[in-house]
Amino acid sequence: MVSAPQPVVENKDTNVSRETSPAAKDPMATPLARQVADEARRRRAAEAATAHRPEATRVFTVANQKGGVGKTTSTVNLAAALSLLGMNVLVIDIDPQGNASTALGVPHHSGVPGIYDVLIDSVPLADVVQPASTVERLWCAPATIDLAGAEIELVPLVAREARLRKALEKFLAQRTGDDRIDFVFIDCPPSLGLLTVNAFVSAQEVLIPIQTEYYALEGVSQLMNNITLIREHLNPDLRVSTILLTMYDARTRLSAQVAEEVRQHFPNEVLKTLIPRSVRISEAPSFGETVMTYDPASTGALSYREAALEMTAVKASGPSAGEETGEGQHG
Ligand SMILES: Nc1ncnc2c1ncn2[C@@H]1O[C@H](COP(=O)(O)OP(=O)(O)OP(=O)(O)O)[C@@H](O)[C@H]1O
Ligand SMILES: [Mg+2]
Repeated sequence: MVSAPQPVVENKDTNVSRETSPAAKDPMATPLARQVADEARRRRAAEAATAHRPEATRVFTVANQKGGVGKTTSTVNLAAALSLLGMNVLVIDIDPQGNASTALGVPHHSGVPGIYDVLIDSVPLADVVQPASTVERLWCAPATIDLAGAEIELVPLVAREARLRKALEKFLAQRTGDDRIDFVFIDCPPSLGLLTVNAFVSAQEVLIPIQTEYYALEGVSQLMNNITLIREHLNPDLRVSTILLTMYDARTRLSAQVAEEVRQHFPNEVLKTLIPRSVRISEAPSFGETVMTYDPASTGALSYREAALEMTAVKASGPSAGEETGEGQHG
């Protein structure tokens, strides 16, 4: 007679000791300890790394017609991070909401000369550019509320799609040697109207921030189609060079899945660095600051520095700094 299988009775004492012993022997065995150690390693690498000025000015349009994905946040924090790395950086705020101007601490109430005057009245860009309040080597051409009418006012104007480009070319030509602007970021509104077209015509590179949430890629194919049209008809030099994953939540499978999906679609463009969801990042603008100065020790500031280093194709000063920069953050 075959006896019935006996239930396996676990020895609780043995299990407890099995679960706790690795952490007791090695404090690095807990996820929190590993996270802290990983962040300390990333911080050392990012602080040791240095960036070199690009050979020529790089002009980026920061675009995604989806609202609230982190265009403005990424614009101002990357700009500040690059300035802190020694670059001369100009932010052009082409969104009537004026959020980039706010975050850089630049006045932009009605009556302040801004991008509206440049686009509609051909005022030189140099006349509207102001220094950012908290970071050196960083300037901003602000957006005032008048810009809300510019979409319509631009329609009858001559060369309506190239007005920003003309103004920017003139401005950049005046800034040479040590004063040369190394990076320009144009912060777009969440739409594909004439303001965004002006931005696309002015740039060589498009930076697309993508929020690691459901429907992350929604609208991106329409954006890519529009970029193709701009390339064919108005600006043959335009290319999508950089995709930045924003508001990443390491605790959720969803963020990791979305990040993976975006990387599959754009294997060469997505930066290794992920921007985490962080309260410090979202608080900074209400103080007229970027997170780079508002809380330089935060993970948000560290991540934007790492992303900025990736964008400058960093040459590391320490033996292992280059290898480590941007690592340890994959979802
Ligand atoms: N990494 C982050 N962690 C937490 N909050 C963030 C992060 N990035 C952006 N936010 C917040 O999300 C909101 C939208 O961000 P942001 O304004 O940068 O998006 P946007 O794409 O420029 O929006 P719009 O389309 O309206 O111009 C803001 O309240 C911002 O503070
Ligand atoms: Mg914005």
